[in-house]
Amino acid sequence: MHIDIISVVPELLDSPLSHSILQRAQDKGLLTVRVHDLRPYGLGKHHSTDDYQFGGGAGMVMRCEPLAALIDELREQRNYDEIIYLTPDGERLTQRRANRLSLQTDLLMICGHYKGIDERIREEYVTLEISIGDYVLSGGELAAAVLVDSIGRLLPGVIGDETSALTDTFQDDLLAPPVYTRPAEWRGREVPAILRSGNTGAIEEWRHQRAEERTRARRPDLLSDTDPVAD
Ligand code: ADE
Repeated sequence: MHIDIISVVPELLDSPLSHSILQRAQDKGLLTVRVHDLRPYGLGKHHSTDDYQFGGGAGMVMRCEPLAALIDELREQRNYDEIIYLTPDGERLTQRRANRLSLQTDLLMICGHYKGIDERIREEYVTLEISIGDYVLSGGELAAAVLVDSIGRLLPGVIGDETSALTDTFQDDLLAPPVYTRPAEWRGREVPAILRSGNTGAIEEWRHQRAEERTRARRPDLLSDTDPVAD
């Protein structure tokens, strides 16, 4: 998979993309991520990428021309499956959405700043608008990092134990069951005996029950039978 990201603060993406699982995915050649600085495409001697909004009101808006110039340049090199704009008024990111995006090969992500990007860029280029939650971030970069992480870890071969991502919370619309490691007893609290029984069938059954219990208590809204990949 290849992901291009457009940003006016590319440094914000340095750390999230260069550690842990995302770094491993890139080292293994399973994922390439390129962050493109919008600033050189800005207008005038100050390379301006934003301007006052028509109609008045506080907050600047990212201009069409710099974004269009960079998007056009990138589109000459790649045929994107989706051009994604990170925005709080987009569709909520879910595991189902991440699963589906992980099946694509070329993604372009646009990070907005200030009041966002000129509506005409959304109309002209954007095929998918994604929000990572009902709160406003100062820019789309951290949201893009979240989106890239949620997709990158699903690419086949990225996570060592292939089944690991499949047992994540949300993968079957259930929260994950409790997990334990050594020691078997800590401050008088014992690891449930069944997990130490070696009986894999019983363990699986126990985990499923705990996952259901936890989901019913904390997120009853998840208990609907929907396909984790389909819409
Ligand atoms: N940009 C600013 N806030 C955001 C959010 N909640 N999700 C995605 N992009 C954003």
